[in-house]
Amino acid sequence: MAVLRPVVFRGVHYSLKTANGKKLPLIAGHKLLYSCNLRCRMCPFWRRPDEKLLTVEEEVKMMDSLKKAGVVFMGFEGGEPLLRRDIAQILMESSKRFHTSMVTNGWLLKTKIHEIKDYLDFVFVSLDGPEEVHDKIRGITGSFKRAVEGIIEAKEYLGVAISHTIMSENLDHIQEMVKLAQKLGVGLSVQVAYNYSTAEKLSPQKERLRRTLELLLQLKRRGAPIVESEDYFQAIINSWFNGVEWRCKPWLLINIDPLGRIVLPCYVLNEYKGDNIVWQTDIQKLWQAYPWEKFEKCNKCALACYLEPSLFSWLNYSMVKDKILHGIISYIENAFRSG
Ligand SMILES: C[S@@+](CC[C@H](N)C(=O)[O-])C[C@H]1O[C@@H](n2cnc3c(N)ncnc32)[C@H](O)[C@@H]1O
Ligand code: SF4
Ligand code: SF4
Repeated sequence: MAVLRPVVFRGVHYSLKTANGKKLPLIAGHKLLYSCNLRCRMCPFWRRPDEKLLTVEEEVKMMDSLKKAGVVFMGFEGGEPLLRRDIAQILMESSKRFHTSMVTNGWLLKTKIHEIKDYLDFVFVSLDGPEEVHDKIRGITGSFKRAVEGIIEAKEYLGVAISHTIMSENLDHIQEMVKLAQKLGVGLSVQVAYNYSTAEKLSPQKERLRRTLELLLQLKRRGAPIVESEDYFQAIINSWFNGVEWRCKPWLLINIDPLGRIVLPCYVLNEYKGDNIVWQTDIQKLWQAYPWEKFEKCNKCALACYLEPSLFSWLNYSMVKDKILHGIISYIENAFRSG
């Protein structure tokens, strides 16, 4: 799964195409490494060796190329991003250029938050269920406790949401997750697990998933702090159960692997395989030449980082309210908090 969930759209600059109608990436996601301190059953990434990592100078070259191509939102992930010793430097460089977020398993969050808090706009902390369920999926006892401690510390300084991946092992615990988010005073970002070929296949069985999506939709309508829009859940139900497809726009997001290579066409197809080195590529040219039309009807995954921006429309009032107006309000709140 990906990276950045573009929850807090922090400004009115958000537009899906340039003025002349060209496709350009608006959001970037970057795996800083594949290595991880946990061993999640559904995750293929910790199983991959890291050949080498980018230096801070290379990270900056990457960011400058992305900025030039029009990227506004940058999301860091991995593997576990907090394992990088130079994480504060990297985030600092990112914060000079982008609205910056990070997805972490939270194990090191409480210890590291003071180093990084000034350079992040938002942090997502993964929780896969109540304590016992989470620790079983994540493979390490104590990972739930550490993540929750991290959330409690981080929310003193930043916007925080739980990143919850729905799978066969945790499907029945969604109401508990909503309650947990409410108790902690943070958001709950939800997406559906994808079955990668090199991980355990825990993507939920379809009929059970349908019930959970409908429940999430109801909870969202009743005011639960769920990050994704009603349209997100509705689009999955429409496509996977009623045969009405959404139009996927993978070009809105550019993903960069730990070696600095662009992952095309998206995070999922080709199982996150990088190709061209980003700072040696004319992104704008590549984006105009790439056959994106082939993927419009894909609908294979429901990763929020692709589906939410694909659904965005200025004509959709509830989405503009969710993504733009709330974004501006949280921006003002943060400004007061830090000022
Ligand atoms: C790959 S992890 C990287 C960041 C960090 N290690 C973490 O766990 O938050 C990013 C997100 O991907 C999710 N994820 C892992 N395996 C997945 C899968 N098979 N399908 C969808 N999302 C997945 C995780 O639950 C996590 O929220
Ligand atoms: S903590 Fe994140 S990167 Fe590590 S194994 Fe779990 S999902 Fe994968
Ligand atoms: S729906 Fe298909 S094209 Fe779109 S992000 Fe998912 S796998 Fe990629």
